Amino acid sequence: MLSQEFINEVKDRNDITDVISGYVTLKRSGRNSKGLCPFHSEKTPSFTVFGDTASFYCFGCQAGGDVIGFIRRIENLDYVEAVKFLANRAGLAVPEEGRNDGLSHMRNRIREQNREAGRFFYRSLYSPAGRHALDYFHSRGLTDETIRHFGLGWSPDGWDQLARHLEELGFRRDEILAADLGYTSRKGGIIDRFRNRVMFPIIDLQGNVLAFGGRRFTDDAVGGKYVNTSDTLIYKKTNHLFAMNLAKNSKSRELILCEGYMDVIALHQAGFTNAVAALGTAVTPQQARVLHKYADRVVLSQDGDEAGQKSIARSIPIMKEEGLDVRVLQIAGAKDPDEFIRKYGPERFKSLLEGCSNDIEYSILRIESKYDISTDDGRLHYLQEVCGYLSELGSLEREVYASRIADKLHIEKSAVISQSEASARRRAKMEKEKEFREMAKNTAGIGSRINPDRSLHLRASNAEYSLLSILFLHQDLIAKAMTRLPPEEFVTEFGRRIYQQFIEIHSSGQEVSMSLLSTQFSEEESAEIVRVINSYDTVGTNDFDTLIGIIKSEHFTPKPQDAAKLSADELLEQMNRLKKKKN
Ligand code: CTP
Ligand code: MN
Repeated sequence: MLSQEFINEVKDRNDITDVISGYVTLKRSGRNSKGLCPFHSEKTPSFTVFGDTASFYCFGCQAGGDVIGFIRRIENLDYVEAVKFLANRAGLAVPEEGRNDGLSHMRNRIREQNREAGRFFYRSLYSPAGRHALDYFHSRGLTDETIRHFGLGWSPDGWDQLARHLEELGFRRDEILAADLGYTSRKGGIIDRFRNRVMFPIIDLQGNVLAFGGRRFTDDAVGGKYVNTSDTLIYKKTNHLFAMNLAKNSKSRELILCEGYMDVIALHQAGFTNAVAALGTAVTPQQARVLHKYADRVVLSQDGDEAGQKSIARSIPIMKEEGLDVRVLQIAGAKDPDEFIRKYGPERFKSLLEGCSNDIEYSILRIESKYDISTDDGRLHYLQEVCGYLSELGSLEREVYASRIADKLHIEKSAVISQSEASARRRAKMEKEKEFREMAKNTAGIGSRINPDRSLHLRASNAEYSLLSILFLHQDLIAKAMTRLPPEEFVTEFGRRIYQQFIEIHSSGQEVSMSLLSTQFSEEESAEIVRVINSYDTVGTNDFDTLIGIIKSEHFTPKPQDAAKLSADELLEQMNRLKKKKN
């Protein structure tokens, strides 16, 4: 067990805004910062970091907690590991522990198994039984050197060849399952996850094998085209990029992002050693962050089909949000980069790279391709859509591209500009409204589920929440509150539980923190507490007495009136009355 002192030290040395801005592009707004939530996909920022209370909350998906909670989620770690992660980040030595932590032990066992499995697949590929798999790789133009460089392999055609090999090496059944290298059969035996497939290992930046992809290569094979390791204790698909371990050594600060294993491998073999793949999906913010570590510019080199274009459209804003310069390479005459290189050679691919368009040119061309601009009707609809797109750009870019579009359509540039400005205003308004609606919806829905008393005692509950947020920020006031307001006088049960914890923690001489609180509440409740202690930041300390007064008066009101029906004006009036009484 790590001591609470150590945990506090770790938290003190890791400013939450600092830590989170390593993952999310944050914009300051007042004392808080906002950005796009890394835990769900969204276009307008509802992810908020509260500097004063060292906590975060997403109004879109209700994720919330302190800096440790954030790291747990984003790095997929357990509590102790997250503390250690942050300790490392701050250069703090972790105190020795008596016992070995179970989860990190399992992580090591998974890493060891994956390394052994990778060797096993490679050996099998070059065994006599692997001949047809090796032929397959050769037939796709791969050299033996490339096969070795990427550590490719073949998973033998049986039920449990790898599992038996791993068991001989001393790995237990539960460890094999945890690595997702096998699964349990209906009879209770173990079956290899990968059978008779050509194998691609996914390797992290430190050289650990994290996971595998296995491709079907014979017609009689069962199952889908690819079988992939599902997420394990060491692998989260959306965080990693295939071949990043190799591409990171390229000096160019430019990376080529493809869809598939074979694209990357073909590109590397042809000399483009800065190619990586997101493996069949649009890029995620976490992946964009990794890309940005090693590159300033990313060339999207997706398949030419509709799915590829969709994935480009989804990836562009994510990469721009990360601050990357985005280029889009359009492949013509082949379905993907692998086929293109095979058909036309590296030189032609190089000129594609040199001629590729930036993301704006690409997006405008995409829109244009939907309309027939030789007709009036087509021109009109094209203009409408393209102005909608221009409205998302900065004013300088808008100027440049408005000229080009005006020239193309033979109209005045000012018409294009004013149309896009109107569109920008409409969108800004819609987004504001949407954000507001969502916030209202979420706070209402969640709030009443977690605090069922709230809707009947809205006035008391608001006062309780305000009081709690004041006490959290000014913990010296807790002692004073205790003498004036015993927990029994809280009106809502949820508010009372929080208050009781405040008192308990404070009385034991510790600081009330989200991490201490979260041990006493469910994850959902903790997120709600984060929201509560942050959402009343306009209330000053001088309201302390008033709030206690409101809670008391609500508590002693014999029949609780339906406070939900009180309007804001009535509430204000009532607060003023209470103030006067006191004076
Ligand atoms: N993919 C997957 N599961 C599938 C299909 C695809 O995981 N059922 C992922 C794989 O990582 C694959 C990538 O999406 O590499 C791109 O898919 P696709 O274009 O179909 O495959 P290629 O890699 O181009 O494979 P090949 O050239 O061998 O057909
Ligand atoms: Mn392909």
